[in-house]
Formats: sequence, C-alpha cells, structure tokens
Amino acid sequence: MTPQQSIPQITGSGPKRVTIVEVGPRDGLQNERVRVPTATKVKFIEALADAGLQRIEATSFVLPTAVPQLADAEAVFAQIKRKPGVRYSALVPNLRGMHRAEAADVKEIAVFTAATETFVRHNIRMTLDESFQHFAPVIAEAKERKMAVRGYVSTVFGCPYEGAVTPEQGIAVAERLFALGVQEVSVGDTIGVATPGDVMRWLRAAEGRLPFDRLALHFHDTRGTALANVLIGLEFGIRTFDSTAGGVGGCPFAPGASGNLATEDLLYTLHGLGYETGVDLDKVVEASKIIAQSLDHMLPSRVYQASRVKSCLPVGHM
Ligand code: COA
Ligand code: ZN
Repeated sequence: MTPQQSIPQITGSGPKRVTIVEVGPRDGLQNERVRVPTATKVKFIEALADAGLQRIEATSFVLPTAVPQLADAEAVFAQIKRKPGVRYSALVPNLRGMHRAEAADVKEIAVFTAATETFVRHNIRMTLDESFQHFAPVIAEAKERKMAVRGYVSTVFGCPYEGAVTPEQGIAVAERLFALGVQEVSVGDTIGVATPGDVMRWLRAAEGRLPFDRLALHFHDTRGTALANVLIGLEFGIRTFDSTAGGVGGCPFAPGASGNLATEDLLYTLHGLGYETGVDLDKVVEASKIIAQSLDHMLPSRVYQASRVKSCLPVGHM
C-alpha cells in the first residue's frame, strides 16, 4: 500500500511539497550552554545548504550581551559561502539590528514578538505594543530594500509566565504582523506544550482569518508531541515547518523549553508520507555531526541517534 492509500486524510489533497525552515544555527544554538566557534557554525550552515535546505536562519543581530552565543553574527555572514537559491535569514529586534544586518548584506530578516505580554517583557524588555512600535520601521525599511520579512509569534500555545493562552491571543498578534506587511508568520510553541488537540483548535479558530499558505508552524518537542502536531498542520494545509538539525536548542528565555523538533525526524516522517522536501536526510545527519562535536550533550534527534547505531536498523535491513 502506498502512503497515500493508507493515510488519505493527510496525504490525499493539497500540495505535496513541504518547505522546511532550518532554524538550528539561530534558535538551536542560542540555547546551547557551549559557545560554538564561528568556523564550526560556518561549516554547519554550509553543510545544511548542501543537504538541500533552501531556507536557513543563520543567526541574530540582537544585543550581543542578551544572546552571547550569537555575538559573532557579522563574522558568520561574512564567512559563509552563500549557495545560489538558498535564503539565509537573520533575526532582527530593532533598527540597530536592522542596520547591522544590512551592513552584513543580509537579504532576509525575521522580527519577533509573542502572544503574551509577560513573555515579550522578559524576552525583549518591551510591552507587546512597544514591540510593534520597534519593528514597524524595521519592516518598512525591509520593504524599501525588497528584503523578505518573517514574523515570529512565540508562546502561542502556552507561556512560561502566564500559563494558558487562548487561540485569539496568537491569532490577533499574527494579524497585526500581516497588517504590517510581513510575508510569513511562524506560529511558535516556544515551550513545547501543544498537543494535537490544541493545534487543531488553534487552526480551526484561525481558518478564514489568517492565510494558511503564509503560515509556518514552529514546534518544540519538549513533551514529545511535535511530530503529531505537524500532522495536524498538514491536515489543515500548512506546508511550512521550522526545525533544527539534530534537534539542537530551545529558548533560554523560556524556562522549560528544550529541543526544537529535529529536522531529521521531520524529514523522515514527511518522506514516509510521500511529501517532497528537496532535502537529503543523510546529508542533514552529516551536518548535525559537525555541530555535535562542539556541543556538550548528545543530539536529541531520534533519527540522528538511530543512524549512529547500526542495531537500530529495522529487521530485514541488517
Ligand atoms: N545590536 C547591538 N546592539 C544593540 C542592539 C542590537 N540589535 N539593540 C540595542 N543595542 C544597544 C544600544 O545601542 C545600546 O547601546 P549603548 O548603551 O552603548 O547606547 C544598548 O544596546 C541598549 O539599547 P536599548 O535600546 O535600551 O536595548 P535594551 O537593552 O532594552 O534591549 C533588545 C532590547 C531587544 C535589543 C534586547 O533585549 C535583545 O536584543 N534581546 C534579544 C532577545 C532574543 O534574541 N531572544 C531570542 C528570541 S527567543
Ligand atoms: Zn523556538
């Protein structure tokens, strides 16, 4: 039986192409205790591009003392060999960050806010409204320079400070981002609390209000629900997902957040369902090996781990 026949509701209709936004070099590395040398980051990013990933969030132009792991943003952009067709983006919190990004010849940026006030205050020391005031001119400048802009909404399914979050809170923030002119909004389960039921309720509430072809889902696998949540997204026609090679990272501003959904695990599942990604899974494992050497722990990706242990091959493959 082909995957289409066995799971018709997920694979039966809608585009069969899925875009993966690789956020390992940014969301992943900002949460690692270890400072990864710039040269290793550059090799990692180049290996990710060689694996076929066409969207890579390479770093952040935020306050270096706020995220010392990414203080080498200029050097990273200066040193990577940019592969034609690959979109390398960077996180930018304000005009100061925007000007640093422009000087580094960054062509695509991401701004970020959250569904909950307290998280925004802890993360960027502003109110939600102030965060919009800060990046409105950033988005305007990006438009003038024909740079693509992604908007992140964190804490959509739960907040480390406020607890439960209603669908309306995240939807309203996403609407404001679209109204300001961002091309895409990434809907983030920053602390990895969403269940498939939560994702279903959220997408039902968002249907007709947000353009699903311009939404990305961003899951952390803190409670083991990330892949199940992706399936719900697919069911609703979402075709863009964020992940990190090896499953590196989390968010240092979100107590309890750990491990983004791993790119390898996402690819393994998507390919098994018959989706095309244009990404070579084995080469992502190779990219993860580069970064693993600089970290102080085993990478959480299950597919990565299985690929390192021959005995994990299914019976019949030995
Ligand atoms: N890059 C470098 N320096 C920056 C900067 C940037 N993007 N933004 C501000 N600064 C500098 C200012 O120039 C100023 O320097 P000075 O004292 O020498 O004049 C100093 O930082 C303070 O500026 P201020 O505007 O008051 O910023 P702040 O201290 O309130 O910090 C943010 C606000 C948003 C810049 C900061 O909290 C930040 O970068 N947070 C990032 C959080 C993050 O990356 N989270 C990841 C997503 S989960
Ligand atoms: Zn994240």
